[in-house]
Amino acid sequence: MTLPIAVLVSGSGSNLQSIIDRIGEGVLDAEIKLVVSNKAEAFGLERAKAHNIPCKVLTHTDYPSREAFDQAMVEAIVEAGVGAEGVVAMAGFMRIVTPVFLNAFRNRVVNIHPALLPSFPGVHGQSDAAEYGVKISGCTVHFVDEQMDHGPIIVQAAVPCQAGEDGDVLGPRILKLEHRIYPQAIQWIAENRLEIKDRHVELKVSGKPCAGQPRADIDPATYALVWPPLEEGF
Ligand code: GRF
Repeated sequence: MTLPIAVLVSGSGSNLQSIIDRIGEGVLDAEIKLVVSNKAEAFGLERAKAHNIPCKVLTHTDYPSREAFDQAMVEAIVEAGVGAEGVVAMAGFMRIVTPVFLNAFRNRVVNIHPALLPSFPGVHGQSDAAEYGVKISGCTVHFVDEQMDHGPIIVQAAVPCQAGEDGDVLGPRILKLEHRIYPQAIQWIAENRLEIKDRHVELKVSGKPCAGQPRADIDPATYALVWPPLEEGF
């Protein structure tokens, strides 16, 4: 069954675009029933309109509380045809959601974060990591729980960082990988291949070939990304 999804945006919506593109290519078996933005000027809305995807602006400042805003989002999303069997994908959505929202879509809300969680949560993940001087950063797709950037992790991608780089340099490198791992994570949900066991998300192996990546059924002891690369003898 094609997975009904809603996508929440606040800004550019390039992750929304990657989801739209993978659906268009037939690799992501999902249908975006609604794009919700809390900002009327979000470019993500233009992307949705260009593909005839229904969109709705819900301005959080119009509501007396976080819960009232979340309730309005739940109603709009359910009305659009995304229920407990669907998925809500937060894609650059700059709001923390409350239990009102999470209880309506229990274990079906996902988020993408531009750092390797649990390091560098918050709104400046890329620049915080760059300033800290890490050698590897990346991005994380995770299920959303009550705490910010905290829920069980579905997939992470690592990118190398070079001395002297700032968030402006590192951010786009991470974003390219965001655009690959987010649609993949949603497709795993569409295929019903993820099982959450406390903090651990298990991916059921399908035997599908993986392009240039270690397969999920390869012994992880035989694979590691090490950066800077190890030299001979180590
Ligand atoms: C991405 O880096 C995402 O990880 C973060 O906000 C940014 C949104 O980018 N949560 P876009 O709106 O998808 O282009």
